Amino acid sequence: NWTMENYIEEEVASIRQLVGNKKVLCALSGGVDSSVAAVLVHKAIGDNLTCIFVDHGLLRKNEGDWVEDMFKNKFKINFIRVNASLRFIGKLSGVADPEKKRKIIGEEFIRLFEEEANKLGEIDYLVQGTLYPDIIESGTDTASVIKSHHNVGGLPEDMEFQLIEPFKYLFKDEVREVGTELGLPEEIVWRQPFPGPGLAVRVLGEITEEKLTIVREADAIVRDEIKRAGLDRGIWQYFAVLPGIMTVGVMGDERTYAHTVAIRAITSSDAMTADWARIPYDVLERMSRRIVNEVEGVNRIVYDITSKPPATVEWE
Ligand code: XMP
Repeated sequence: NWTMENYIEEEVASIRQLVGNKKVLCALSGGVDSSVAAVLVHKAIGDNLTCIFVDHGLLRKNEGDWVEDMFKNKFKINFIRVNASLRFIGKLSGVADPEKKRKIIGEEFIRLFEEEANKLGEIDYLVQGTLYPDIIESGTDTASVIKSHHNVGGLPEDMEFQLIEPFKYLFKDEVREVGTELGLPEEIVWRQPFPGPGLAVRVLGEITEEKLTIVREADAIVRDEIKRAGLDRGIWQYFAVLPGIMTVGVMGDERTYAHTVAIRAITSSDAMTADWARIPYDVLERMSRRIVNEVEGVNRIVYDITSKPPATVEWE
């Protein structure tokens, strides 16, 4: 009989047998799939696993530290964090086109991963959090034609690794079950999807440190209010976008000229189609008031009420 416990036991045994005393590498993004995969493989082979986490500086507020603390201190996994934010921001400077931004980030990510992997010497296996739907859809995914989804978990094709894909026959909800069973916290197991290029595609056009700070702070407030309102499980994705529109406002006796922040929240089952989330007005009101009060350089908030199609989930 098939139970989650049995599944984990069998996977652990078979990974242990396959790997023996060889070395395994995992590209950790902090997302559900790679995180659960890392913990599962670690359970099987302990210190023969090394995780590489490339922090491109385009993550959400406190995300890099949080991921590091979790895997290094809580799960005691060999964990390498590559702090590359300056390198990424440098490469992205002056680049406004969304697909160019994605391409630069994807390529830089791979380069950094390779550099780090080479330092480790002989590696035999690579862990990937591939899911069953990824396998059945690959090649026929029309969304990938519309936008090149450089999944930052995606890795160079010419690297000579054998793959370990423990979730090849599982669906997302089953991976969440595995994660829960393995003791991963809810914040990871129920994490909303976050694009590989991160906040780079939520600051429209050219990225600057200042704009990244605004969108990062606004995003933290959006997430906080959604969680407080108990809406986090029902909404597929919820985040802030910085369109780069400056508008006139008033504060005290003074006119201001500052940024507009857009809030995007959608319900969906697979992100192929989506509807805008009917967030209660009082929750929107709290987000709006807090962002304007707490985030410097913002004087106006709008809520995106378009479904997908015709809009996409992200703004670029
Ligand atoms: P769109 O914006 O195409 O998004 O409706 C559909 C889903 O894909 C995510 N997304 C990305 N994920 N790299 C990723 O790994 C990307 O470049 C990227 N662009 C969009 C988006 O967050 C949504 O879940």
